[in-house]
Amino acid sequence: MEQQKTIRERFLGIFGHEPATIVRAPGRVNLIGEHTDYNDGYVLPVAIDRSILMAAAPRPDRQVVLHALDFDQRAGFSLDDIQHDAQHPWSNYQRGVAFFLQERGFELPGMNAVISGDIPVGSGLSSSAAVEVAAAYTWQVLSGFSLSRVELALLCQRAENEFVGMKCGIMDQFISALGQRDHALLIDCRTLEHESVNLPWRSSRTRSAPAERETSPALSVVEGFATPEISGKLGLDEGSPPSAAIVVCDTMKRRGLVDSEYNARRRECEEGVRLLRKHLPGIKALRDVSPAQFERYQEDLPEVVRRRCRHIVYENERVLQSVGALEEGDLATFGRLMNGSHVSLRDDYQVSCRELDVMAEAAWQVEGVYGSRLTGAGFGGCTVSLVAGEAVERFRAHVAAEYQEATGLKPQIYVCGVEDGVGAAKPLRRLRIKPSQG
Ligand code: GLA
Repeated sequence: MEQQKTIRERFLGIFGHEPATIVRAPGRVNLIGEHTDYNDGYVLPVAIDRSILMAAAPRPDRQVVLHALDFDQRAGFSLDDIQHDAQHPWSNYQRGVAFFLQERGFELPGMNAVISGDIPVGSGLSSSAAVEVAAAYTWQVLSGFSLSRVELALLCQRAENEFVGMKCGIMDQFISALGQRDHALLIDCRTLEHESVNLPWRSSRTRSAPAERETSPALSVVEGFATPEISGKLGLDEGSPPSAAIVVCDTMKRRGLVDSEYNARRRECEEGVRLLRKHLPGIKALRDVSPAQFERYQEDLPEVVRRRCRHIVYENERVLQSVGALEEGDLATFGRLMNGSHVSLRDDYQVSCRELDVMAEAAWQVEGVYGSRLTGAGFGGCTVSLVAGEAVERFRAHVAAEYQEATGLKPQIYVCGVEDGVGAAKPLRRLRIKPSQG
């Protein structure tokens, strides 16, 4: 609400007229299923109450003028000549989205836009996917073309792969576009079939009808005692804490090496498929390899490739087992699968780092923690933990102290709300005044 008010006022101040729409696209936390998306496998992310807001209005010409409030920078480009901008790399996401929307034949209007968000950049909560999804959806609102949410996610992934140059999978854009409040999304990254999975620790917040809902307030950092907002999220105000909360711990170590190591992992997985095809000629991706088949043929794989394959094969199993555990309300099993995922990412996939390990290990020590693991690509960023409602404050105090002592870094610890995917925060209305040229 506050964020939305601010962005609206800033838009008015910068462009001299009201925005025609304000779009909100969420970041994400992946509960389990890491590095499986580009292996045609399964993932189980949630869309969170940290998001990118984009206030926008159409222009009568072909210019796109973008103000990034968080960087205090302005960038502009023409829809007739979309090029990379090395000076304003943040604007390459919108450029890439515009490029591929036009390539698909959609007629885009020029646009004045102000962008702002509360997803920390480089924390592994997918701010870039949220920026892409917000841009694509904004253009959809402004020009009314028809594109399903799945197609929108695919187009944004393409913008990131081919325009920005990061070879990510489909998970981040998909959950930002299709997330559902209080549910995780099981995504089959081969077929793109998806299914909402009810979270048995559903929060008891009072709900409003989707159309009336404001954008989510920024998450509060848990500092000492639960703030009223967090009490609400945990259901404490009703005297019946839900069984658990999703807690994100930001190591404050910004991801390094991620692009080159990420691409190296992709190549190692492809090599695994190539080698396993000698025994299993029908396989297209590691998704097609069962644990039994992996065990039978693993000796033929070189050490590093074997480790990468082992992670993917068993991580896919863990995702499916996790969904079963959630359906049965079995949080203990779900938590054990999370822990197993972390160990596998640390030892076999080798995408953890000291900070993430210290954070996960500190979480594992707390009574009332079901499970904890690194989330996202790795090499820094955040862990995700599933914590019993009554243990959240104990968790915060212990993890923050242990982590700070071991690393010298002050972590940020959030209780996370689970929100809907992209949507218009403010309904589109017709402008009577002509948009200024900004
Ligand atoms: C990044 C990528 C995703 C996915 C994760 C790892 O977030 O953007 O596509 O591969 O890493 O699970």
